[in-house]
Amino acid sequence: ENIERTKLLGGYELAGKLYQHILLNTAEGKPALEYLRSRGMNDKVIDTFGIGYAPARWDTLTKLLEKRGFELALMEEGGLISAKQDGSGFVDKFRDRIMFPIHDWKGQLIAFGGRAMGDVQPKYLNSPESMLFHKSRTLYNLHLARPQIRKRQELVLFEGYVDVIKAWEAGVTTGVATMGTALTPEHAEAVRRLAERVIVAYDGDAAGRNAAYKSIPILENAGCEVKVAVLPGTQDPDEYITANGSERFVREVIEAAVPSIKYKLLYFRKDYKLQEDVEKLRYIQQALKLIAAIPTPIERDHYVKELVGEFNLSYDSAMQTLNEIRMQTEKNE
Ligand code: UTP
Ligand code: MN
Ligand code: MN
Ligand code: MN
Ligand code: MN
Repeated sequence: ENIERTKLLGGYELAGKLYQHILLNTAEGKPALEYLRSRGMNDKVIDTFGIGYAPARWDTLTKLLEKRGFELALMEEGGLISAKQDGSGFVDKFRDRIMFPIHDWKGQLIAFGGRAMGDVQPKYLNSPESMLFHKSRTLYNLHLARPQIRKRQELVLFEGYVDVIKAWEAGVTTGVATMGTALTPEHAEAVRRLAERVIVAYDGDAAGRNAAYKSIPILENAGCEVKVAVLPGTQDPDEYITANGSERFVREVIEAAVPSIKYKLLYFRKDYKLQEDVEKLRYIQQALKLIAAIPTPIERDHYVKELVGEFNLSYDSAMQTLNEIRMQTEKNE
């Protein structure tokens, strides 16, 4: 088992080097390199993240692995290449894709995310789960971000590869990503072991907002203090940086991240037409429910006062409602 892991790691490492070489030093890699540059990734960051290109051929990697004496059946089992339909051999799994290497926290290459440049589906083809790669435990870029995360006791959680890379270029070197899958308690435990605070910076679209909302209790249950960065419209961090630049990203998105309770209050707002009295009162009720769940009285008081100020309520009636909600939930527990 251990020997197989070592061999497979060797295969991934070789593949990573091959893809990097093809991107940087061959004519075939040119359009991919131009694609990356057009997306604002400079040569330095391409090198830092070990980005490569898998050519539009069937056997470039397979041939090299064979030549170097790698056991192809094991490489296939490990998700690095594919078996031919008729069982007569193996072919490359990734073809004509930008290759983002995925490392474990120690920096060993264990998987790839391969992005198509055109409208090919899927947009990203990821390595399957293997003896090396467990999606529910892996955070993209943890190996590079770890020292800074430790030092600052803070981590920024993104959705995707490009967000992490563009944020790194913008000076945010504590970024990691869940790679589109939902955040798991295992991810959250790994995060908490390194940092006290987490900033969730998912995409601004509905999927990203919902995922951010769902990540809050998972991170808080692991003991993290959670803030959420709010992106305007449906932009993701990468698009925001392209449109507004690094400085504004750091200042207006990352540093402006709001405490989780504030995010929840914002999150529910969009469901109510606040110009209408009935809806407004329903929102206030919902908001008080969220505030009632805050464990410390001082914080509860703070957010009640904000709500009272915003909707011109009486503090006493808001507090009375809050206490009713708290008694109700205590009874239900
Ligand atoms: P997004 O769809 O937000 O992609 O998915 P993105 O990161 O903004 O990518 P670009 O900017 O279009 O290149 C977020 C993450 O979800 C995973 C990837 O890890 C991606 O970075 N994903 C997405 C997949 O695994 N497969 C897909 O087909 C799409
Ligand atoms: Mn697994
Ligand atoms: Mn997304
Ligand atoms: Mn995105
Ligand atoms: Mn994007």
